[in-house]
Amino acid sequence: MKNILITGGAGFIGSHVVRLFVNKYPDYKIINLDKLTYAGNLENLKDLESKPNYTFIKADICDSKTIDKVFKEYKIDSVIHLAAESHVDRSIKDPFSFAKTNVLGTLNLLQAAKNNWVEDVNKLFYHISTDEVYGSLNDSGFFTENTPYDPHSPYSASKAASDHFVRAFSNTYKLPIVISNCSNNYGPNQFPEKLIPLFINNICNNKPLPIYGKGENVRDWLYVEDHAKAIDTIFHKGKFGETYNVGGFNEWKNIDLIKVLIKTVDKLLGRKEGTSKKLISYVADRAGHDYRYAIDASKLKNELGWQPSLQFKEGIEKTAQWYLDNQDWVKNITTGDYQKYYQEMYKE
Ligand code: NAD
Ligand code: DAU
Repeated sequence: MKNILITGGAGFIGSHVVRLFVNKYPDYKIINLDKLTYAGNLENLKDLESKPNYTFIKADICDSKTIDKVFKEYKIDSVIHLAAESHVDRSIKDPFSFAKTNVLGTLNLLQAAKNNWVEDVNKLFYHISTDEVYGSLNDSGFFTENTPYDPHSPYSASKAASDHFVRAFSNTYKLPIVISNCSNNYGPNQFPEKLIPLFINNICNNKPLPIYGKGENVRDWLYVEDHAKAIDTIFHKGKFGETYNVGGFNEWKNIDLIKVLIKTVDKLLGRKEGTSKKLISYVADRAGHDYRYAIDASKLKNELGWQPSLQFKEGIEKTAQWYLDNQDWVKNITTGDYQKYYQEMYKE
């Protein structure tokens, strides 16, 4: 029996991780703790509400009293920590929220684990992190687990700081930890501020597709369910104190990816191929825009046997179809706060 605290489980990646664990491990108790910020949405987990091994708690990871109470009440023995502010553009506008949730919130969870886990046996603090902590690559090379940290944005600086705190708790207090650093995820339930869901949504609604700079930046894309499976693998088979890079072996220049999105969505909408190319709109570049991320995930593949299962073409078609079928989800999540943010960002 395990009592697993999953933080940020109402968000994009967290919702897929919670679903995988609740359905695959009926003997585990899954406690999903989420503040429900603009990015968290309980609609993502409707199918799990009546499951006996699933509990939802609305709380802030920065609230130390509540976190300590949750550890005691639910006898938490493992943490899979995903709660975070996750969008780079927002971090440029408001770095403090990122420092608060990503750094202080993580520290708060570490303290609760340290104080409540008197014995280390069968305990694990698993931090979900990002490849952005490694900085930016030129046209060649890959990030490995030994690449020195060199974060460039307030978001990646906050994630790097939280990784350092996790390792410091392992070194200083012998807290059993593991960290994984993943590349760009895509798939259902992603808030439409990130490139892929934003562009699918805008193609559907004949809105401009704002490409930062020349569109030449490169990202390595992984289908979100494959990331959830990697997290399952690392949670069960990862070695204490280790870091594992997770990636899709799937690099795309933004402009080439956008052309694939246009082709896919136009086809699904029954539009003549390429109709939506006219929506492409080159806008000012993101401040400090990292040029290229590319993950070498061979350690995870060779040591723990994980590799991505879904081909990119299939993943993009599934994702685009999901957004087309779930226009109400998009509408519900993009009213209010998001509208204000979007209008300010792109000055529509
Ligand atoms: P997301 O923004 O979709 O979801 C974040 C979730 O955390 C939301 O449900 C939100 O309500 C919750 N949350 C935020 N602040 C909170 C707080 N103070 N207390 C409790 N809950 C809070 O993010 P995501 O894309 O699903 O990312 C999840 C994790 O994975 C993050 O740690 C992120 O850094 C990491 N990551 C994301 C990607 C990616 O491509 N999206 C890639 C690598 C790593
Ligand atoms: O690499 C992992 C990271 O990937 C995660 O840690 C972050 O949480 C996640 O948000 C993502 O960060 P990126 O900044 O790479 O993702 P985003 O979808 O914001 O942007 C992808 C690329 O597309 C990037 O080069 C910027 C560009 N872009 C993005 C948006 C939103 C545009 O050209 N136009 C846009 O409107």
